[in-house]
Amino acid sequence: MVLRFLPLLIVGTTAAATPIQTAYSTCKNIPGDGEWPGPGVWHHLNNTVGGRLIGTIPVAHICHNAGIYPAFNEPACVALQEAFSDAGAQTLEPQPGEMLNPYFMDTSCSPFTSQSLPCELGNRAVYSINVTGPADVQAGLRFASDHNIRLVVKSTGLDYMGKSSGHGALSLWMYNLKSIDVIHHYASTHYLGAAVKLGSGVIAGDAYEALNGTGYRIVAPECGLTGIAGGYLQGGGHSQLVTKYGAPADQVLEWELVTPAGEYLTATPEQNTDLYWALAGGGGGTYGVVLSVTIKAHPDGPVAGGTLIFNNTNDAAFWEAVGIWFHTSPSFVQNTTNNVQFLVTNATLEVFSFVLPDQNTSAIHDLVAPFLADLKRLNLVYELKTTQSSTYADSLATAYGPFPYGNLCPTYPIISSRLIPRTTVLNSISNAHLMDTYRSITADGTWFIGCSIINVAEGSPIRGPHPPNAVHPAWRKAIAYCNPNNPWDWHDPEKSLALKRQLVDEFFPAVEAATPGSGVYLNEMDPLYTGDWKQTMYGDNYDRLLRIKHAHDPHRLMYAQFAVGADEFTLDDEARLCHA
Ligand SMILES: Cc1cc2nc3c(=O)[nH]c(=O)nc-3n(C[C@H](O)[C@H](O)[C@H](O)COP(=O)(O)OP(=O)(O)OC[C@H]3O[C@@H](n4cnc5c(N)ncnc54)[C@H](O)[C@@H]3O)c2cc1C
Ligand SMILES: *[C@@H]1O[C@H](CO)[C@@H](O)[C@H](O)[C@H]1NC(C)=O
Ligand SMILES: *[C@@H]1O[C@H](CO)[C@@H](O)[C@H](O)[C@H]1NC(C)=O
Ligand SMILES: *[C@@H]1O[C@H](CO)[C@@H](O)[C@H](O)[C@H]1NC(C)=O
Ligand SMILES: *[C@@H]1O[C@H](CO)[C@@H](O)[C@H](O)[C@H]1NC(C)=O
Ligand SMILES: *[C@@H]1O[C@H](CO)[C@@H](O)[C@H](O)[C@H]1NC(C)=O
Ligand SMILES: *[C@@H]1O[C@H](CO)[C@@H](O)[C@H](O)[C@H]1NC(C)=O
Ligand SMILES: *[C@@H]1O[C@H](CO)[C@@H](O)[C@H](O)[C@H]1NC(C)=O
Repeated sequence: MVLRFLPLLIVGTTAAATPIQTAYSTCKNIPGDGEWPGPGVWHHLNNTVGGRLIGTIPVAHICHNAGIYPAFNEPACVALQEAFSDAGAQTLEPQPGEMLNPYFMDTSCSPFTSQSLPCELGNRAVYSINVTGPADVQAGLRFASDHNIRLVVKSTGLDYMGKSSGHGALSLWMYNLKSIDVIHHYASTHYLGAAVKLGSGVIAGDAYEALNGTGYRIVAPECGLTGIAGGYLQGGGHSQLVTKYGAPADQVLEWELVTPAGEYLTATPEQNTDLYWALAGGGGGTYGVVLSVTIKAHPDGPVAGGTLIFNNTNDAAFWEAVGIWFHTSPSFVQNTTNNVQFLVTNATLEVFSFVLPDQNTSAIHDLVAPFLADLKRLNLVYELKTTQSSTYADSLATAYGPFPYGNLCPTYPIISSRLIPRTTVLNSISNAHLMDTYRSITADGTWFIGCSIINVAEGSPIRGPHPPNAVHPAWRKAIAYCNPNNPWDWHDPEKSLALKRQLVDEFFPAVEAATPGSGVYLNEMDPLYTGDWKQTMYGDNYDRLLRIKHAHDPHRLMYAQFAVGADEFTLDDEARLCHA
């Protein structure tokens, strides 16, 4: 049986039927529509952008001998299958038109389906502009507007919700904007100090390598493959250094962007302040096309790191210990600079990374001493290891290396994040409720819960103030963000789809019920999420974000699933993007 698991109506919006040709003006054109531009028109666009227009050829076309790109080549296809599984994102990320989420990639041109199935574009953009500067972005925006074509913005294509892909789209491909400039003396009303300006195609691993030896560290993703200026910072971001310096979006000094209306400008805490505010946490692909970002750079120094593991040798004692661990977690990050990352399965709790910036390993022993006493009391054997690194990047590399890509981060996880309020873990009743929830999610040994213990509360003497931004207020009250996690299985997509359904239908509502009133990390959500996404992803910032979007995107060019304003669009039954 052919498995085509992506329903044509992807989005949780209602399907407005757009049955007849005359309704097309409310929908964007897709290939085959009468108003889809002909070759000469695309050729003209190509000339406008200096020959940098790329027609998408799916990488897996070499696995198929039917469809638009028949080119079956068995050894090349087998190599691609291995690359998909082993190297993951490294294979797909540098490709225009590809996206990394298996659900959106679907079976339209998969290396794992029969060669006789046609290779089709599916949700891949039809064309990409290989952006080199603002003029390319302006040309793309104008073309999409003039010809009524769906527009997407993509830097790495990592997005879990398919926000950097789109059927029938023209893509602004930002991945080759790779400049990294250190600014030793940045000066503004809000900040005097070092900074670094990053082109929007810079991935974290490249930034860490480039900054190695400069004496600076930045608040950036753990996973080397992740972009910085795109969805990461615009979605608020997460890092091991947030407790010391604040949220990634709090670090932003300047955005260089083109608005959907085509204006090329700079947004800072002093100028174009509405865009500055919205871009810093209000979600990627929504308010403008970012060419570069300038963020704070901080003096580097030693970092104490380590790991801690204890196993489930006695179920009751183990879950009591996990409950104590969560209950104790605020003490790990209260009035400190620390970050603690761990995972829980039905068989183990493993801290795979302690990060204590500018401290030594004795601080780790002090930090966990009270908890280790509980483990002893509960007769649970543990193993604690500590290491000292001379820089942050070296510390990061111990858990997430080697650079630039790293090998810890799963490329295709099934995931739905939740911000865990400090009050939830401190209260013994709500803490117990949360533990029961995690215990049942992990019970059959299939799922693990990955967590990062953080503190980005306002008013900290450690972090100091930051300019106002659109980071979800739930972050400020959170002690951790935690994700139930499972890898996508390319060889058994039906099983993976069933896991997604279990996550969104069963587990995620249970986690929400255990953490009422909190929110999520908007970048790490499942596209099938059915809850109140506006409140969950943006909190009380939603209405202001929508006003800012409307002011700068009068022609509604920028759409992405779960982006602010997304419910002003629907997909018709041929996956055309339509105005609702
Ligand atoms: C393997 C993996 C590892 C990850 N690691 C981390 C991590 O360590 N820390 C963390 O916090 N998160 C991490 N994430 C989540 C990551 O932050 C999000 O997937 C984020 O959306 C990636 O942004 P991107 O720009 O790289 O991706 P893309 O998929 O290219 O874009 C994501 C969104 O941002 C928009 N966008 C991209 N570029 C621009 C631009 N220049 N201007 C305007 N909009 C733009 C897109 O339109 C889309 O809406 C990881 C995800 C994966 C799959
Ligand atoms: C755009 O022009 C370049 C240079 O002539 C060419 O290599 C490329 O194939 C063209 N792109 C498309 C989509 O035709
Ligand atoms: C995109 O443009 C860059 C230069 O900015 C070039 O190095 C790269 O080869 C181009 N990529 C493709 C796929 O055309
Ligand atoms: C925070 O820690 C510093 C240094 O350890 C100490 O001087 C200060 O009193 C602490 N503040 C609070 C509120 O605990
Ligand atoms: C670790 O740091 C503490 C406090 O900063 C200090 O007292 C101690 O001597 C240091 N230990 C080592 C081994 O450097
Ligand atoms: C936990 O279990 C794993 C796998 O059985 C084992 O390798 C490890 O040594 C155990 N760790 C502790 C601290 O008991
Ligand atoms: C940083 O540079 C030093 C010296 O060249 C090297 O030993 C180290 O591995 C580098 N660290 C990272 C994280 O690249
Ligand atoms: C954990 O799950 C595995 C299945 O993967 C199962 O064999 C094991 O018994 C479970 N452990 C506990 C303590 O429930």
